[in-house]
Formats: sequence, structure tokens, C-alpha cells
Amino acid sequence: MKESIKEILFSQEAISQRVKELGAQLTEDYAGKSPLLIGVLKGCFVFLADIARNIDLNCEVRFITASSYGAGTITSGDVKIGMDFDFEIAGRDIIIIEDILDSGVTLTTLRGFIAARGPASLKICTLLDKPARRQAPLYADYIGFECPDEFVVGYGLDFAESYRNLPYVAILKPEAYS
Ligand code: IMP
Ligand code: MG
Repeated sequence: MKESIKEILFSQEAISQRVKELGAQLTEDYAGKSPLLIGVLKGCFVFLADIARNIDLNCEVRFITASSYGAGTITSGDVKIGMDFDFEIAGRDIIIIEDILDSGVTLTTLRGFIAARGPASLKICTLLDKPARRQAPLYADYIGFECPDEFVVGYGLDFAESYRNLPYVAILKPEAYS
């Protein structure tokens, strides 16, 4: 797997440091509250595990699925949302946890879906933000790193379901995509 890596963009140490800072910020901003973290599967699973352990508050963790990509690297614009309706959104302080905000198509759909269910507050926390590719006017409230306009993998992010278990965020060699 590692022979396919062209360049490490965000190292394990840099991510760990940044996730601690974000966790401290969320702990401060949500003091006295019990936020509900909603992770967007599957890419969020590593970031959510780390950020949740850096939030020093009583919080609940739930998951939602949203996918628009299939096996390619360009958004199809067709977002499918899946969710268990066994929990309340109304009146809760919701923080959506995402791996990467790219075109913004996925999160625009998801945010509308959650906002329609009457949360007390709704914020977005993303590990990576790729503003160069935005198609929808959407901003994250908490951002780990700004990401250059490259397709990246690792720390939960995949290419065709591989590379999610890399402990850092990296760019693949061109031949890895073929
Ligand atoms: P958006 O709807 O274009 O903002 O895409 C968001 C989703 O696309 C993310 O949650 C990722 O699953 C996927 N995605 C976008 N950019 C990348 C990338 O560079 N690497 C891996 N997955 C990506
Ligand atoms: Mg993906």
C-alpha cells in the first residue's frame, strides 16, 4: 500500500496535534451542553474516533451515511442519505463530523436534511476543507486543515475503498488510480 504514496500532506503527528486543538475548541464552545456528534460514514470513522476522545464533555455519537462518489474521484452530484431514525435531532446541539468538504454537495444535502428536523444548533466540523472545488456556498465551522486541490487518501479517506487505514493524509502516485 505504501508504495502507492506520492507525498504525505498531513503527517500523523500534525493531525494528532490539530485534532487536540479542535477538541479543546469544541470543549470550550459547547461548555455546559451535551452535543450530538453525527459522523458521515464511512470517511469520518478515524477522525470521529479521535475528535470524540478530545472533547471533554458528555456527548452522544451517531452515524449517517451519505455517498455520491462510487469508485471515481469526481462527485456525481447525486447524494444518497441513509440513517436510522431511532434518535431525536429536535432540540439537540448537532455537530456534523466529516472527513473532507470538497464540492459541498454532500454536506449541503445532509445539512438541509438535519436542519429540517429542528436541532437547537447545527455546526459542521471537517478534518479537511478543499475550497478550490466548492460548487455549493457552504462553509465549515471547524476545520482541521485546508487541503490543496488534490485527491487525497488516508485517515479514513479512500480511493475505491482502499487506503482508509493509512495513519496520515497523502496523495497517491498517478499509476495508483489506474
Ligand atoms: P463533496 O460532496 O464533493 O463535498 O464530497 C464529500 C465526500 O466526497 C467526502 O465525504 C469524501 O467521502 C469524498 N471525497 C471528496 N474529496 C475526496 C478526496 O480527495 N479523497 C477521498 N474522498 C474524497
Ligand atoms: Mg469516499
